[in-house]
Amino acid sequence: KPQQSLAGKQIVITAGPTQEAIDPVRYISNHSSGKMGYALANAALAMGAEVTLVSGPVNLSAPCSANLIKVESAQQMHAAVMAEIENADIFIGCAAVADYRPSDVQNQKIKKNNQELTLTFIKNPDILADVAKQQQSVFTVGFAAETQDVSRYAKEKLARKQLDMIAANDVSNSSIGFNSDQNALTVFWKEGEKSLEVADKRQLAFELMQLVSEHYRNKHAS
Ligand code: C5P
Repeated sequence: KPQQSLAGKQIVITAGPTQEAIDPVRYISNHSSGKMGYALANAALAMGAEVTLVSGPVNLSAPCSANLIKVESAQQMHAAVMAEIENADIFIGCAAVADYRPSDVQNQKIKKNNQELTLTFIKNPDILADVAKQQQSVFTVGFAAETQDVSRYAKEKLARKQLDMIAANDVSNSSIGFNSDQNALTVFWKEGEKSLEVADKRQLAFELMQLVSEHYRNKHAS
């Protein structure tokens, strides 16, 4: 049985992709499976935390002891997180939030009348950056999926979004990340870093939650 090092802590975790509507029957999305976020929710629960899991559409069953909030779009995910974050101790942004959404959602199904179709997109709110900015007592953890210069981009993201910790993975390696059951992460914080070697996402989730729990306590001890 894992140590109850997160006993009594409130943790909000986002997971999965978001779906951005184009018209009543179409959307754009991405390949996120939600596996890493759901594994983190399970690990946090096993370590004694109370978990709110804000999830985009995935084919996974949520741990029954989690408070599950299902959403589709980035805007819905943003609203759900902001409503839950005030009482939280830790926020983990594991969702693959769509960076942009179609600027006008058509009320009727788009017809194939033309040879070309142009969609215009508008930027979605950055949920993680908003939490870090608006709730400075919350310990914030982000993910960075990169295809190159993993460490440089991850450190830059840590600083720019004012995060406490960031977990970076190299998505150019198709045997790990996205739909895979395996992953490897390099975790960065202001004063250090740690590599978590290739492992099952469930195993990796425990290792990451262990690090989060240590650094959360450091932040609140100082
Ligand atoms: O900037 P980038 O999308 O690479 O940052 C990834 C991190 O930010 C992830 O933790 C992701 O969950 C979070 N994010 C977010 N809202 C967005 C975009 C990213 O919470 N709109």
